[in-house]
Amino acid sequence: MPRDALGHLVAGRISPARPVPASIARPEYVGRQGPSPFTGSDVYPPQAVDRIRQSGAIAAQAIDAVGAAIRPGITTDELDKIAHDLIVSHGAYPSTLGYRGFPKSSCTSINEVICHGIPDDTELIDGDIINIDITAFKNGVHGDLNRTFLVGEAAPDVTALVDHTREALARGIKAVAPGRQINVIGRAIESYARRFGYGVIRDYTGHGVGEAFHSGLVIPHYDAAPDFDQLIEVGMVFTIEPMLTLGTVEHPGSIEWEQWDDDWTVATRDKSWTAQFEHTLVVTERGTEILTLP
Ligand code: MF3
Ligand code: CO
Ligand code: CO
Repeated sequence: MPRDALGHLVAGRISPARPVPASIARPEYVGRQGPSPFTGSDVYPPQAVDRIRQSGAIAAQAIDAVGAAIRPGITTDELDKIAHDLIVSHGAYPSTLGYRGFPKSSCTSINEVICHGIPDDTELIDGDIINIDITAFKNGVHGDLNRTFLVGEAAPDVTALVDHTREALARGIKAVAPGRQINVIGRAIESYARRFGYGVIRDYTGHGVGEAFHSGLVIPHYDAAPDFDQLIEVGMVFTIEPMLTLGTVEHPGSIEWEQWDDDWTVATRDKSWTAQFEHTLVVTERGTEILTLP
């Protein structure tokens, strides 16, 4: 029964690790403490972009499969099995499994959980929202996306938060063009979120992705100017993944989120509900192409 008396999420029971066939290639960090420092580029040639698109499509198909199974009563561990089996059936590796010790093949973040929720025996309840974040690794590259789903019927303000967060990602993507500064992305997202009085999480960001799960390139979801003035280039591959909340606005230096004792789950301090959407994209001459479509 992983909810407390007030209905807030608490840690549940995590099932044993799911196996991945030995024939499937692992990212370099699996079985190690963490990834080696990434020394490559965030700019990829077209053939490498093709491979990221293939990994992204597998991750997107896994999200579709999980989304179709979402209903009151199902556990996040059952959803994780669906994601795991689909990824592995495509000869890909679920990038989160064994990443810095993360034990599962997807992140499942419910209601006040911002991100990095661990699949466990928590059962979904009518009116919940759940973010599913999946990354697939194949042919040496990762594709990373997430979506937030309604469980049954959600409250109107919660439904609006989810819709507006999806749109905030769309606005961030539209802001991308070669020659612009990275900080234009967060400016577009934050100004849209502010219209509705939502909080924007600052401490978790988009990131370069491809040969590395997290390359070191950081994409803020708030207006970070004059910082993050690096110019966007054709062929750059990165994620945008805004997290918006119904609660207090997060200010620089303040800690309005907390991490559970499991060392992963990140939740709002005020327990306000939060939504997130993510795509991996490549910068083109005209703007972007999303690489995480099914
Ligand atoms: N997929 C997440 C992201 O969007 C990262 C999850 S790392 C994990 O960057 F270890 F929590 F799984
Ligand atoms: Co990501
Ligand atoms: Co992700």
